[in-house]
Amino acid sequence: MSRLHILGVGMGPQHVTVEVAEALRACDYVLAARKGAEDTLLALRRTVCASHGVELVAIPDPERDRSDSLGAAYPRAVRDWHDARVEAYADLIAARPGTIGMLVWGDASLYDSSIRIAEALAARGAIEEYRVWPGVSAPQLLAARHRLVLNDVGGAVHVTTGRRLRAAVEAGLDNLVVMLNRRLELDGLEDWSIWWGGNLGAPGEELVAGRVGDVLPEILAARARARDAAGWVMDLYLLRRP
Ligand SMILES: C[S@@+](CC[C@H](N)C(=O)[O-])C[C@H]1O[C@@H](n2cnc3c(N)ncnc32)[C@H](O)[C@@H]1O
Repeated sequence: MSRLHILGVGMGPQHVTVEVAEALRACDYVLAARKGAEDTLLALRRTVCASHGVELVAIPDPERDRSDSLGAAYPRAVRDWHDARVEAYADLIAARPGTIGMLVWGDASLYDSSIRIAEALAARGAIEEYRVWPGVSAPQLLAARHRLVLNDVGGAVHVTTGRRLRAAVEAGLDNLVVMLNRRLELDGLEDWSIWWGGNLGAPGEELVAGRVGDVLPEILAARARARDAAGWVMDLYLLRRP
């Protein structure tokens, strides 16, 4: 029977912890999805595998229906895509049983489907067990770079997506970590404070902090610079009501 290690690798090879490295070296191979020809995250996974002497097996990622990414059909489209991924992974694992690794960008606890995929693989008997090994997540790195505590003393922090930012503001939440931003839409929030980071731990890393109304142009320029430097941009920010 096969077992799966879900390994958080942080924001780059420099964040691979000693315990993740040990669990990785115990794997017969690492299984990874390939989106298109060769994507940035697959290239990073190749680098991590190569530096620990573990084979990477890439399988084409099933197409995801993105036609209704804001509407009611979105959860269904994501579920269908997960099902197709599980199917593809189960076929590969049946052909190549053993101890298998999956490298997660950041940590598996935030906006990542690896644990759901592992649960589904276990439910259908494709793997006997799975374990999760933590990595440094983007909010942790943002906090460290800005030398921040994410919450005020005894306070709360709400982690959400760019898509759900408006709903969180309207619900009265006042201390938000915002991830998965297609673009920055901060109209009406000019007096809020922002601590923004792009491509953290990666080529083109950028940091900006201040009052939204004052620093938004600076953030947009930094975002463009990060994209130019790396060929991609991923960003997040902490946003605090005045
Ligand atoms: C699919 S989520 C994965 C999050 C990841 N599992 C974690 O633990 O941080 C991707 C989002 O994380 C954030 N992110 C990931 N890597 C980042 C980086 N190097 N710099 C800034 N934000 C990053 C961005 O908001 C991006 O849209």
